[in-house]
Amino acid sequence: MVLAAGEGKRMKSSLPKVLHPLLGRSVLGHVLAAAREGLGDSRVLAVVGHGADQVRAHLAEIAPEVRSVLQSEQRGTGHAVRMVMEAVDELRGSVVVVNGDFPLVRPATLAGLVEAHEAAGAAATILTAQVPDPTGLGRIVRGETGAVERIVEERDAAPEVRAIHEINAGAYVFDAVTLRQMLGKLGTDNDQGEEYLTDVVGLLVADGYPVLAHQAVDYTEVLGCNDRAELAGLRALLRDRINTAWMRAGVSIIDPATTWIDVTVTLGRDAVVEPNTHLRGATTVGENAVVGPDTTVVDSVIADGATVVRAHVLGAEIGPGAQVGPYAYLRPGSRLAASAKVGTFVETKKADIGEGAKVPHLSYVGDATIGEHTNIGAATVFVNYDGVNKHHTTIGSHARTGADNMFVAPVTVGDGAYTAAGSVITKDVPAGALGVSRAQQRNVEGWVGRRRPGTAAAGAAEAAAARVDGDATVDSEQSHPEAASTESGSRSSEE
Ligand code: UD1
Ligand code: CA
Repeated sequence: MVLAAGEGKRMKSSLPKVLHPLLGRSVLGHVLAAAREGLGDSRVLAVVGHGADQVRAHLAEIAPEVRSVLQSEQRGTGHAVRMVMEAVDELRGSVVVVNGDFPLVRPATLAGLVEAHEAAGAAATILTAQVPDPTGLGRIVRGETGAVERIVEERDAAPEVRAIHEINAGAYVFDAVTLRQMLGKLGTDNDQGEEYLTDVVGLLVADGYPVLAHQAVDYTEVLGCNDRAELAGLRALLRDRINTAWMRAGVSIIDPATTWIDVTVTLGRDAVVEPNTHLRGATTVGENAVVGPDTTVVDSVIADGATVVRAHVLGAEIGPGAQVGPYAYLRPGSRLAASAKVGTFVETKKADIGEGAKVPHLSYVGDATIGEHTNIGAATVFVNYDGVNKHHTTIGSHARTGADNMFVAPVTVGDGAYTAAGSVITKDVPAGALGVSRAQQRNVEGWVGRRRPGTAAAGAAEAAAARVDGDATVDSEQSHPEAASTESGSRSSEE
């Protein structure tokens, strides 16, 4: 049973506490994942109450096998468990109850808790930990023999009990039949006037049932999150745990303190993650890939040997050996084939970029297919939106498009075609053709001298004219080699 009906008042949030995100899962999602892995195919029930619709919708998405039970009024953790007991008919054997707000618990810790409980034949086994700061938590009170006597909440505790550093983690195993019996005896005589699940312990001990405390080895596992500062503390702990595991698995993480990898991400051997990098969601990073610095990647595939530098990458596929950035924005549906390149100040969306093709500088590529080994000139815009609908542009393979082109979709440029710099391409360009679409240049000779006399520009022009006059041997064609052909206007910005 996962207790997830509380509001989490101290979060001061319209989102229920257990739904707050933490490196790839919700707080509740982490607890459920630990339970699933540590407890095998147990039946899982979640108590929902505050924000029940939101929590139920989340459960349907992440764990549809979990049955939810409504606790319409949050009258305490004992009351929450009682609601579940009333909702299920018969229950025998071991029941594990966990708070929904301690996301760092390891599967092995829950498995160990159940193992200890069953090996001892206890009526209840409590997960406890020695913590440096027990503020706000339930204290484990032991008798002279060291046996657990009861759990006392801080707000109900005398100073000598508050001095105890062994705390109740919020995970328990009970024998189902005895638990049901004791829940019926819970009172509300405490500072909050609630039915405390923790009081079951005192009731069991009073009736002579064996109760066990199972101490967690790593106390950071059992830390709860009651406010956003605590949540941030847990996030940093989880970050370190995840990063350490990846480094041990052969990934280089240059600055673990500024590297945030969701639990859902996978990385290959010899991948390098540079500082200030965030890898989120269903992201995979291949072997020998380099990601970062200053990069965010969400739900994307980065294949072996690819490099992604100072980029924001959402829902994209980056092929083997492909290069992205610095300063690139890849939006959903961007697919780079092997060795393709998306360079600096380039945004892509729903774009298939062929093997070895390059979009090196200052461009927007939306709703496009670019063939293999094609080069797109700098400052090119794929004009995909007519204000109502989106349209597609197709550029063939081995094409060379000029700098500062507009491809007004729908439009197609054939294999091996060129387009001239500065062109607005509204009509298809056949394979092998040069598409030119721009006004002819006209020079108004002597304009600066006439219209801007006395300026520095006029002075420079005059001096240039004097030099030409003084050197009659200069061949005018050679002094302006580029003026000779319009076709050179197709020069692209290939590197
Ligand atoms: C609880 C324990 C405390 C322990 C601490 C560990 C009790 C009385 N106290 O205190 O001994 O040290 O956890 O973090 O159990 N919930 C419900 N319904 C309710 C009340 C709570 O489902 O009516 C859920 C909450 O959503 C939460 C969990 O139970 O996930 C624990 O509740 P919370 O109010 O956070 O208990 P703590 O005061 O932290
Ligand atoms: Ca709590």
